[in-house]
Amino acid sequence: MNILIIGSGGRESAFAWKIAQSTLTDKLFIAPGNAGTSAYGENIALGVTDFEGIAAFVLNNDIHLVLVGPEEPLVKGIHDYFLGRDDIRHIPVIGPQQAGAQLEGSKDFSKEFMLRHNIPTAAYRSFNRDTLADGLAYLETQKLPIVLKADGLAAGKGVLICTSLEEAQAELKAMIADAKFGDASSVVVIEEFLTGIELSVFVLTDGHSYKVLPSAKDYKRVGEGDTGLNTGGMGSVSPVPFADEAFLKKVEDRVIIPTIEGLKKDGIPYKGFIFIGLMNTNGEPYVIEYNVRMGDPETESVLPRIESDLVDLLLGVAQENLGEKSFSISSKTAATVVLVAGGYPGHYENGFAITGLENVKESFLFHAGTKSVNGEVQTAGGRVLAVTAMEDTLFDALQQATADAGRIFFDRKYFRRDIGFDLI
Ligand SMILES: Nc1ncnc2c1ncn2[C@@H]1O[C@H](COP(=O)(O)OP(=O)(O)O)[C@@H](O)[C@H]1O
Ligand SMILES: [Mg+2]
Repeated sequence: MNILIIGSGGRESAFAWKIAQSTLTDKLFIAPGNAGTSAYGENIALGVTDFEGIAAFVLNNDIHLVLVGPEEPLVKGIHDYFLGRDDIRHIPVIGPQQAGAQLEGSKDFSKEFMLRHNIPTAAYRSFNRDTLADGLAYLETQKLPIVLKADGLAAGKGVLICTSLEEAQAELKAMIADAKFGDASSVVVIEEFLTGIELSVFVLTDGHSYKVLPSAKDYKRVGEGDTGLNTGGMGSVSPVPFADEAFLKKVEDRVIIPTIEGLKKDGIPYKGFIFIGLMNTNGEPYVIEYNVRMGDPETESVLPRIESDLVDLLLGVAQENLGEKSFSISSKTAATVVLVAGGYPGHYENGFAITGLENVKESFLFHAGTKSVNGEVQTAGGRVLAVTAMEDTLFDALQQATADAGRIFFDRKYFRRDIGFDLI
C-alpha cells in the first residue's frame, strides 16, 4: 500500500524509518519531510494544513493511508475534511477528528473530560474575560506555587508556574485581558501544582481497543541539569526506569482504560495516538495533559523499541481490529540526544553545512530541521537532528548516543551531554 506521512520533524523521520521497513509498504511519501526523510520515501512540497493540496495529492497518487504527525492539522480538522469529501472519505487518516483533538486543543476541555471520567489530575478551575475578577479572587485562596495554563495551543509556551500571588494575578490579567498568548489565553485554566517526576505514556487506539506503546521521559530544558529555557525537547529515553510494572498497571487501570471508555461514552470517535503526560507523585499517576499525536523527541526513542510491523498496527486502527494485532516491544533501552542550532530556543541561524553524518554507525539518525541544498545537507531549524542509540542498558545507550552526537558537525552545534544520566 501507498502511505503519506504529514509533517517534517524528527518524529516524522522516525515514522518514515519505521514504515519503510514494513513489507506492507509500497510507496511512501512525506509532506513536506526534510533532508533525511528522502532516504525512506519521496518528499512532497505541501504544507501540513494545505488540506486541498493534500487531498489532490492523495487522489493522484493512489494513497491508501495518511498518518498525521503534528497536532496543528488535527486540531484544524484534517480528518474531518477527509470525511467530508466523498472522493477521499474512504482513505483512512491516522489521527483524531477535531472533536477528539480537543483533548490537546483545549486544556479546559481536557480537564472537564478527566473530571467527568474520574481520571486523576490536578484540581482546577477555568476563567475567562467575564469571570476574571473571580479568577483573581480564586488565586488568593490557593496554595503556591500555582499553575496557569492558556486553554488553546500556544506552541509549548502557554503554561506558567507562578511562585507568588502578585505574579499569578498579574499573569492571569495579562493572559485574559491583554491576550498574552492571543486567542489561546482567552480562557485560562488555574490548577494545583503537583510535585513528582514526569513521564509520558503513549497509546495507539482504534476507538475500541488499544495498545500501550513504550513509555518515555523527555528533557525539555535547553541547559544541562535541566536549566534554562524550555525547548521542543532536547532528548528522551525509553523505557523509564522509575515506571515499573506496578505503576504502569495503575496508569492502565486509572488513566488509559477510563480515557478510551470516556471517549466512547462521550461519543467521540478516536483513531490515532494518545500521548499522556503524567506526573508520578509518590507512585501515584496524575495526568498533566493529553496530546493527540506522538511526542517529539519521544517518538525517536519509542518507535525503535516496537518490534511489530507499525503499518500492520495502523491498518488495525483504520479497520478497527487493532485488538487482534500482535504487538511486541524490545527489552532494550533507547536513548535519544537532539542536536540543536546554537541560540535555540532563542534566535538562531539556518543554512550551516552538516558534515560527519556518515560517522554515525551504531545509532539511528533522525533528521529534524535539515534541508538538502544542491546535494549538501544544511541546518534548517532549531532542532536539527536526533541521534538514538539502543543498547541493553540505559548507561550504554546514553554513552553511545552522546558519543555519536559528537561525531556530527555544523557551526554552532549544541547538545546536552547529560540526557538520562539523572535516571542512573
Ligand atoms: N499541575 C502541574 N503541576 C506541576 N507542574 C505542571 C503542572 N502542569 C504543568 N506542569 C509543568 O508544565 C509543563 C507544561 O505543561 P503542559 O500541560 O504539558 O502544557 P504544554 O505541553 O501544552 O505546554 C509540564 O510538562 C510540567 O512540567
Ligand atoms: Mg506538555
